[in-house]
Amino acid sequence: MRILILSDLHSNATALDAVLDAAQGRWDLSVCLGDVVGYGPDPNEVTARLRELGTQTIRGNHDKAVAGLMPTDDFNPVAKSAVDWTRGQLQPDHLAWLSTLPPGPLATDGIVLVHGAFEDEDEYVFTPEQALDGLLESTAPVTFFGHTHHQGGFSYLDSHLEVLQIRPRPSERFAALRVEPPRRYLLNPGSIGQPRDGDPRAAFAIADLEHQIIEFWRVPYDVSVVQGRMRAAHLPEQLIQRLSVGR
Ligand SMILES: [Fe+2]
Repeated sequence: MRILILSDLHSNATALDAVLDAAQGRWDLSVCLGDVVGYGPDPNEVTARLRELGTQTIRGNHDKAVAGLMPTDDFNPVAKSAVDWTRGQLQPDHLAWLSTLPPGPLATDGIVLVHGAFEDEDEYVFTPEQALDGLLESTAPVTFFGHTHHQGGFSYLDSHLEVLQIRPRPSERFAALRVEPPRRYLLNPGSIGQPRDGDPRAAFAIADLEHQIIEFWRVPYDVSVVQGRMRAAHLPEQLIQRLSVGR
């Protein structure tokens, strides 16, 4: 079974379309690690697409904030203004769907999904120390996380933690990771709608645990058309510019 892993879509329908084109339907089910909305210009389109696909989705901090389930005091002013704009745009049924998304950790089909850290859905996992809880406490050997918008991850075996460099090079569209039991993995598919790891291409992953392979993908999309929709919506210029550089 091939599982399509989506994360941090952030209301970017053009990037999501590019991802679905690249995946070519060669997957059996899809999951999402949260942050369906926030930052981007297409909250209704992206939410509708996930609902149509039947994607099993956990909530991210932006989904919670837009749904009024957490205060935005900790958000920077740019993120907060995008949250407010998004809430005003969303159709009531899409807003209701977002407000009922479950938190991680969520075990499904042999993997575990979290948005941020294993113990705290709003916490970022950048360092090996921060990754340790997820590697040791998850109920599955392979756990996927999002939130940082950095594609990559960590593995653990015999008290040794390894940082995995698994991003495709600029000339490549995907890089494959071989899963080696009983090694444990904490993996980030990267962000579809707003990458921050220096590669502006949309990021996602496909997990095929029967064949012990996880593919990490990067696909280009027309960033300028998304930026045009963001300008038309008067979203903050800082959010518009960062899509060009993936930072
Ligand atoms: Fe995010």
